[in-house]
Amino acid sequence: MTESQKIPRHVAVIMDGNGRWAKAQGKPRVFGHKAGMDAVERTAIYAQKRGIDVLTVYAFSTENWSRPMDEVKFIMSLPIDFYKRFVPVLNRENIRIGMIGDREGVPDATLKAIDQAAVDTAQNTGMLLNFAMNYGGRAEILQAIRKLANSDMDLSALTEEKFSDAMYTSGLPDPDLIIRTSGELRLSNFLPWQSVYSELYFTDVLWPDFDEAELDKALEEFKKRDRRIGGLSK
Ligand code: IPE
Ligand code: IPE
Ligand code: MG
Repeated sequence: MTESQKIPRHVAVIMDGNGRWAKAQGKPRVFGHKAGMDAVERTAIYAQKRGIDVLTVYAFSTENWSRPMDEVKFIMSLPIDFYKRFVPVLNRENIRIGMIGDREGVPDATLKAIDQAAVDTAQNTGMLLNFAMNYGGRAEILQAIRKLANSDMDLSALTEEKFSDAMYTSGLPDPDLIIRTSGELRLSNFLPWQSVYSELYFTDVLWPDFDEAELDKALEEFKKRDRRIGGLSK
């Protein structure tokens, strides 16, 4: 296998531990979410330098609505701040923005900021930075089923490829590598359809502390994995 084949095309990150990071410093949880955005910025820039094509980051789950309203509001306001600061950086770096998730329920101002960032970076030809916002894996599967049921497709002829096309991630490769920070060993409703053969990497590092060296560690570990996909070792 050549070196470039051992770089994952699609890396997906469960960015966890923002609250604990803030708490450890005696600061409110939202402070951790803000620092988490800086970690997204440096990780995206570095991921592209390492040759990754798609970086999907789990920013808000369909279960995160159960958090205190102030925290939810703060998280929903982050893309607005992010847009202003980050779009010039993305254009300099040739990175595109995308979103996966249920638009229903996300405040208009938040959607507007994400959509505007997508439009204003659409001409970039480098990595796709994909925000999973109001994302839930089960919700994604259900919306795909509804979409297909409402189409004129003969569902008895449904294939895995056609089902994939009805998902939010249509057209994207499945994640080769899923990274979760903060020591939790679960997927929390993240990409259940797409992750069936993803390599999983867990680290105790809290998301706001994630940096270039941490991504390198995950990529080094990925290189050691033998991805048999049901076959035999080469
Ligand atoms: C991840 O950090 C960000 C979101 C889920 C929005 P958390 O906010 O879950 O931080 P912890 O897990 O409470 O430390
Ligand atoms: C997963 O983190 C969701 C995101 C990173 C956006 P959570 O902190 O919500 O996950 P659980 O509740 O610990 O499983
Ligand atoms: Mg958490």
